[in-house]
Amino acid sequence: MQKIFIDGVAPGAIIAEDVYGMDGVLLVKRGTMFREQYITRFREAGIQEIFIEPDGSLSPETVKKIHRSLNIQDVIHEKTRIHAQAQIKKTMMRFRSVSNGDIYKIGKIVENMIEQLLEQRDFVFALSQLRSVDDYTYQHSVNVGVLSMVIGIELGFKKSELKNLGMGAMLHDIGKIMVPESILKKPSKLTLEEFMEAKKHAQYGYDILSQTDMPEEAALIALYHHEKYNGTGYLEGLKGTEIPIFARIAAVADVYDAMSNDRVYQKKSSPDKVFREITHLGDLHFDAQVMEAFAKHISIYPTGTGVILNSGHRGIVLHQNKLYPESPKIRVFTPQHGNLKRMYFDVDLSLNTKWYIVDTFT
Ligand SMILES: [Fe+2]
Repeated sequence: MQKIFIDGVAPGAIIAEDVYGMDGVLLVKRGTMFREQYITRFREAGIQEIFIEPDGSLSPETVKKIHRSLNIQDVIHEKTRIHAQAQIKKTMMRFRSVSNGDIYKIGKIVENMIEQLLEQRDFVFALSQLRSVDDYTYQHSVNVGVLSMVIGIELGFKKSELKNLGMGAMLHDIGKIMVPESILKKPSKLTLEEFMEAKKHAQYGYDILSQTDMPEEAALIALYHHEKYNGTGYLEGLKGTEIPIFARIAAVADVYDAMSNDRVYQKKSSPDKVFREITHLGDLHFDAQVMEAFAKHISIYPTGTGVILNSGHRGIVLHQNKLYPESPKIRVFTPQHGNLKRMYFDVDLSLNTKWYIVDTFT
């Protein structure tokens, strides 16, 4: 149960407590559905706030159904994404080596992705919502590749540079094939020794890629993607522009995607929290210019995100407002009704100032 200013109550909300006027007359019984016309009636009776029932009607299954019905567009075609994941899986399953055939195939996939990205200049990157923990590594690899290329496009890179950036970013963690699984999948905190071993994946990755046709500037992403702008990263503790630009880009993409997902040892954060945290880390860990390019294409509330409003209502983000990223257009679901097809209305939060997002849900 939530107490809310009457201006902020959405039509369709269920009133949780009897509402009495100043003179003690019962105006509306609890359990009644709130209607627009009540606002004037309540205001005349001197009522500022009422209690409404929290909306518990959106189960994760329902949210998935809504996602499907919204037909949310990914920046990369689903077929290409699946193909890329399968290719990376194949590459990483090979025993401690990567063939030139693998590098060639990944190069072709990356070229295809670049064409798709260049077709839609004004996009906002949304992470795939439905992911499995099992395939985390491959999905993560593809996302880091795509997001790095998104940043690269914003920074004005040529196609040939984008290709090297995409390939290197997609294989940034290839060195993990040399690190024991018991360390990679350990659910608790690593011991110092284990951590030292895990860190080596950066060097291993570079060594593996250097023995293939992978261009040097792409292989360096594997080596330097854990360096931080202020010099507190590993392996070498490089600072600022000592870190190659491709690695500075992949570092932002890597941290962003990792934080946005469930991992073996950590639950994911909501998109708005990730965005805030990562921009907060901006000056210390990342290159400001890279961060700026990244922020232009990342939405705080990506399309499809479940949001909770100050009115207690739940909704799904439909469209971004480029000028007001914190106020997207959303579809609000009216509570306690099974028939979702009819029981919703759309609202543009940039035009409706009484409602704002207070939290997200999945
Ligand atoms: Fe890594």
